[in-house]
Amino acid sequence: MKNILVTGGAGFIGSNFVRYMLEKYDDYFIVVFDKLTYAGNLDNLHDVLDHPRFAFVRGDICDAEAVEAVIRQYEVDTIVNFAAETHVDRSIINPGAFVQTDVIGTYTLLEAARRFDLERYHQVSTDEVYGHVEEGRRAKETDPVAPRSPYSASKAGADLLVNAYFVTYGLPVTITRGANNVGPYQYPEKVVPLFTTNAIDDRPLPVYGDGRQKRDYHYVIDHCEAIDLVLHEGQPGEVYNVGTGQEIENLRMVEIILEELGKPRSLIQHVEDRLGHDRRYAMDISKIRALGWKPRHTPEEAIRKTVRWYVENEWWWRKIRNADFEAYYQAQYGRRRVLSPEEIAALYGESKQE
Ligand code: NAD
Ligand code: TYD
Repeated sequence: MKNILVTGGAGFIGSNFVRYMLEKYDDYFIVVFDKLTYAGNLDNLHDVLDHPRFAFVRGDICDAEAVEAVIRQYEVDTIVNFAAETHVDRSIINPGAFVQTDVIGTYTLLEAARRFDLERYHQVSTDEVYGHVEEGRRAKETDPVAPRSPYSASKAGADLLVNAYFVTYGLPVTITRGANNVGPYQYPEKVVPLFTTNAIDDRPLPVYGDGRQKRDYHYVIDHCEAIDLVLHEGQPGEVYNVGTGQEIENLRMVEIILEELGKPRSLIQHVEDRLGHDRRYAMDISKIRALGWKPRHTPEEAIRKTVRWYVENEWWWRKIRNADFEAYYQAQYGRRRVLSPEEIAALYGESKQE
C-alpha cells in the first residue's frame, strides 16, 4: 500500500481519516476524490491541504472516466470509499440521490478497482444495514441485512455488490460497518452537532417521537483506527462491525449535550417522528476486537468531547449554518408537528410496554 484514494475525504469521517493517516504513516500518499456536495467542505481539510503527501481532486464517484484518470495519475493501489449521501432524513425526501451515489458510485469504483487490479478496495458501511435490532440481541456480521430506509437500503445494496466482486472476480475487498459516529467536522444536520449548535443558540432541540430510540454513539477517531487496522490486518472478503457496543437512548444523548453546555431541559421539544424510524441499532463487536482493536471512548465520553469541539470551533460551523442551511432546516422541521404532553405521555406508555 502506497497511494491511497480516499473518496468522500472532504466529508466528516473521511477528513478525520485523512488527517489520521497522514499523521500515523510517513510513506503513504493520500488523494482525496470528492464531489463537494453540500456535505463536503475543504475547511474539513484546512490543515492538510498543503501537506506534501496530499492531493485533492474534485470529482464524482459515478463518473468512470474521472475515477480512472485519478487512479492513473496518482498510481493509486488502494481505495477507501467514504463517498456517499449519508443523511436518513434527506433520503426520505430524495431517495434517488442515494441510489445514484451509494449504489452506482460504489459499482463505478469497484469496476475501476477490478480494471486496475488494485491491492485493496475498502467499503465504509454502516450498522444501519442490519435495520432495527430487537432488545436482547446484537447484530453480527453474518446476520442478513434488513435495511428499512432509502439510505440504509442503498448502503446495503453497495455492501452486497462489494461482496459480489470478491466472490466473482476475487477483488480483495473489506467492509467495515460503523455505528453512529460523532466528533469534529460533522455536518450539523446529524443529531449531535445539530442539537449542540441549536442549544448554543438557545434554539429548541427537535427530538423525534419519545426519544427512546437507541444508538451507539461512537468517536470518529476510534472508527478511523478500526478502518486502518482492517486495511492492514483484515481478511479480504470479510465484514467487520465497529462501534462501542454500548448503545444509549437518544434522550440520554440529549441530556449529556445539555449538561456539557449548562443549558436547560426546557430546550427539548418532542416532535413528530421520522418515517420508518429504526428503534434500536446494536452490534456485536467481538470480531474486530479479536483483530486487536478496542474503542477508546464510551458514547458519553464521545458526545462530551464532540460538544466541546463545537464550542471551541464556531468558526467552522457558523459558516455552514447559513441561509441554505436554514432553508433545509425549514423544509425538514418547519412542518413537523410539536407533540402535546398527552401524546408524549402516550408514547412513553407505549415504549414502557415494549
Ligand atoms: P458526509 O456526508 O459527512 O460526507 C460524505 C462526503 O462524500 C462529502 O464530502 C461529499 O461531498 C462526498 N460525496 C457525496 N457524493 C459524492 C459523489 N457522488 N462523488 C464523490 N464524492 C461524493 O458523510 P460521513 O458521515 O463522513 O460518512 C462517510 C461514510 O461513512 C459514508 O459512506 C457513510 O455511509 C459511512 N458511515 C457514516 C456514519 C456516520 O455516523 N456518519 C456511520 C457509519 C458509516
Ligand atoms: P442521525 O444523526 O440522523 O443518525 P441516524 O438516523 O443515521 O442514526 O439521528 C440519530 C438519532 O437521533 C436517530 O434516532 C434520529 C434522532 N434524531 C432526532 O431525534 N432529531 C433530529 O432532529 C435528528 C436529526 C435525529
